[in-house]
Amino acid sequence: MSDTRPEPEEGLAAEVRDMTEEERAEHFAQVTEAVAPDREIGVPVGDTLLEVADVSLRFGGLLALDSVSFDLKRGEILGLIGPNGAGKTTCFNVITGVYRPTAGEVRLEGRGLGRLKRHAITRHGIARTFQNIRLFDEMTALENVVVGTDARHRTSVVGALCRLPRHWREEREGVERAMALLEFVGIADRAADRAKNLPYGYQRRLEIARALATEPKLLCLDEPAAGFNPAEKDGLMSLIRKIRDDGYTVLLIEHDMRVVMGVTDRIVVLEFGKKIADGTPAHVREDPAVIAAYLGVPDDGAA
Ligand SMILES: Nc1ncnc2c1ncn2[C@@H]1O[C@H](COP(=O)(O)OP(=O)(O)OP(=O)(O)O)[C@@H](O)[C@H]1O
Ligand SMILES: [Mg+2]
Repeated sequence: MSDTRPEPEEGLAAEVRDMTEEERAEHFAQVTEAVAPDREIGVPVGDTLLEVADVSLRFGGLLALDSVSFDLKRGEILGLIGPNGAGKTTCFNVITGVYRPTAGEVRLEGRGLGRLKRHAITRHGIARTFQNIRLFDEMTALENVVVGTDARHRTSVVGALCRLPRHWREEREGVERAMALLEFVGIADRAADRAKNLPYGYQRRLEIARALATEPKLLCLDEPAAGFNPAEKDGLMSLIRKIRDDGYTVLLIEHDMRVVMGVTDRIVVLEFGKKIADGTPAHVREDPAVIAAYLGVPDDGAA
């Protein structure tokens, strides 16, 4: 049965793994509707969702990204790894519109993101978390997530000021969805606490909930396990799998090799701004260029 399936299937939940293609498409359609009611994704599971095509980015004399190309299939968990300063966060910054590439292009569902601003890219379906947590410290956990749901709202500022019925409806739905998302990431018990008073692990999960609130097609996580103990890392790996099983596609930057090897379907490796490997975890961990890039870099002993 499942032993004839290709390796990338391994990260899927058991019940999803054993489904036929048709059952799986139906399953994803149902869960996707429950978690993200407004999300419409133009490409089927397994087709290309994001393309990073020959992207270069120059900071003065430094070529931080050097003709980097890779793609991401819908439903995949793709790891983006590499030594410190390799260009991983810069790659996220290009994908999310913080920086425009010096050359090359990023495409989502076949459409170039070229001139789109950051908020427009969020609306098109790319959300991210940050290497250094960025929350609204004085707002509650719930309010932080409601802000994320706002990215999807259709009422204008004038509509909100005039208190149009649609504004109220969207606000109520936003609160309900935000609460559901806090439950989804496992921190609903602290919904009313200010972000700054939450334990560190809760803050990391809150960032993920806020990103999910925008109903992304692609979720980009920048070192979500940084500072976690092994038990917290296991919890995070389960959450990442749950996110994917709910119909999201995930791009994960992570230094901890146990997490990367344990949760991704495929891994892209950067070194000095260049892609040096792209393959399954088993393939990448044996790659001599990857081993050389990591020589002398502590990786929790798992590589
Ligand atoms: N805004 C910037 N201006 C100038 N140089 C930058 C800027 N942002 C990043 N860099 C440089 O680009 C290179 C890639 O940085 P980046 O933050 O993408 O690395 P990274 O792979 O995320 O590393 P880490 O694992 O340490 O987070 C580094 O040499 C960094 O100093
Ligand atoms: Mg980084």
